Amino acid sequence: MRTAYTLPCVLLLIVSIIGLAACADHSRQSEDISQPASGGFFGLHQWELQQGRSAGVYGSGGMISTTDRIAAEVGIEMLRRGGNAIDAAVAVQFALAVVNPEAGNIGGGGFMLLRMADGATAALDFREKAPLKATRDMYVTGDGAAAKAGIIGALAAGVPGSVAGMWEAHQRFGLRPWAELLQPAANLAEGIVVHDRLARSLQSHESVLRKNAEASNAFLVNGQALRVGDRLEQKRLAETLLRIKRYGKDGFYRGRTAELIVSEMRRGNGIISLDDLARYRAVWRKPVAFRYRDHTVITMPPPSSGGATMAEILNILEGYDIRSMGYHSAEHIHYWTEAVKRAFADRNAYLADPDFAEQPTDRMISDAYASERRKRIRAGSPTPSEQIRPGLGPTDAADPAISPRQQHTTHYSIVDKQGNAVAVTTTLNSLYGSGVMVKGAGFLLNNEMDDFTTDPGKPNQFGLVQGNRNAIAPEKRMLSSMSPTIMLGPAGDLELVTGSPGGPTIITTVVQLISDIVDFEMNLFQATVAPRLHHQQLPDVLHYETGGVRPEVLARLNALGYKTEAWPMFQGETQSIMRLPDGRLYGMADPRGGGAALSDAVMKGSFR
Ligand code: DON
Repeated sequence: MRTAYTLPCVLLLIVSIIGLAACADHSRQSEDISQPASGGFFGLHQWELQQGRSAGVYGSGGMISTTDRIAAEVGIEMLRRGGNAIDAAVAVQFALAVVNPEAGNIGGGGFMLLRMADGATAALDFREKAPLKATRDMYVTGDGAAAKAGIIGALAAGVPGSVAGMWEAHQRFGLRPWAELLQPAANLAEGIVVHDRLARSLQSHESVLRKNAEASNAFLVNGQALRVGDRLEQKRLAETLLRIKRYGKDGFYRGRTAELIVSEMRRGNGIISLDDLARYRAVWRKPVAFRYRDHTVITMPPPSSGGATMAEILNILEGYDIRSMGYHSAEHIHYWTEAVKRAFADRNAYLADPDFAEQPTDRMISDAYASERRKRIRAGSPTPSEQIRPGLGPTDAADPAISPRQQHTTHYSIVDKQGNAVAVTTTLNSLYGSGVMVKGAGFLLNNEMDDFTTDPGKPNQFGLVQGNRNAIAPEKRMLSSMSPTIMLGPAGDLELVTGSPGGPTIITTVVQLISDIVDFEMNLFQATVAPRLHHQQLPDVLHYETGGVRPEVLARLNALGYKTEAWPMFQGETQSIMRLPDGRLYGMADPRGGGAALSDAVMKGSFR
């Protein structure tokens, strides 16, 4: 238990006790902001993370926050050699494919959001695509068997986008030679010592990995997952990385690697062809940008639903004086939940791949639409989810019953010493994706096809019930919730780079980080450890992290008519960087995971 209370935290305690729950502004600028609130986080005495199981780091120069320390070190090395944030991102992405094989990947996809030091922004879409042979009803059998084929096995895989994404980002912005960025990952693939997080995730997925001979060979010994301290050698992966190093994008999408992928498809009844691989391109898109109070949020457009959904939530919230309600008061949670429910109703009905389906994104992110949505939110009275219709015109969404659960993905945030900022969220979808490792190539394939509306009216593995616009079609990208995000402060300067794993909870996790910083003036440490909530319209349940809502507030919410449920685990795992008013960077890896924030110039104030 920490006993040295700083003045801001004492103020915080007093303020939260009287229900105003606002962290004093100067806490953000104090010498060490890694101070958990004393006496209960904003009055939450049961909140497990309030002691701060890990903390951030201060630095000047560059900063990297990732799920894995080794990958962060690889990126920092690129910054030290004169690389920029994009070079570091490429090196981190490939390193994560080795040291974080459950989510880091070359067989998956993702999104990169950039803001260059001159203020230019760009969003890179390297989301997987449905193969040419995919059909709208390929997972529908009526007996539930096909739905499983959308999750486990070769048929669950979309055409991977990660290598094309890294190649495209590097072609446009990279400074260091491509080969130099690939080499560390290839070296790591020759052998690493299994660490705690990897050992735990391997163990939890032993049965899935056992079903695939190549994955068993890589990760299991005599059918048992590798343990902490064991050596993980991924020779085939090293060879694949060296082909990518040598031939660039073609080292993956053509030649030997492509042939190995297609052979794997033949063995597992998958449908990705040489043609699919050769045709894959990463696409530049215009980021979604909107104002939240006096800040500017820049984030991912479709085929991510993240940007538009976050904009609708925050635009609705902007109409309320959240701060005066008190942090995690019943009133705060009520308005937050009502905003989220409405935004998810629109998300599920309208959003999809913009190259295939028209969608009302501009209207969805407008203030005018938020005012309309706000009109039906009543004080102290939740609107039942089934009465919340999508509000942007005709749709074809259906109703469901669902059970959300969490899987995994990975996010990294990077700022270089010039001030270029990069946020990348990348995934195989589930932990270890489809469970299929490409024989002879040593990497896992995603199971991203489940993010389509595979069986209309039925929930996917995240409990999302999505509309026809997100139906499967050849070469279409499946709708995502991944939300790499950059926020600018009132003067238009870089303030925050962030993102998270968590399927649909990514959206609510990032929204809360932003609102906690803007509305409650939390510093990045506090906003990261702050307990999280989630709703996604269907099911009509408000989820919360255990201990994250005061019992009397829960009782009040239940009395109002909210169905509430504690998550069996933590929600999300943000990897963030904040630029402090004095120009220093503060990097913070979420203590819910085992990641690390590192700087190439660590400064005084760094903590533990
Ligand atoms: O793109 C999406 O929304 C999902 N495939 C992300 C999966 C995910 O975050 C799993 N993580 N916890």
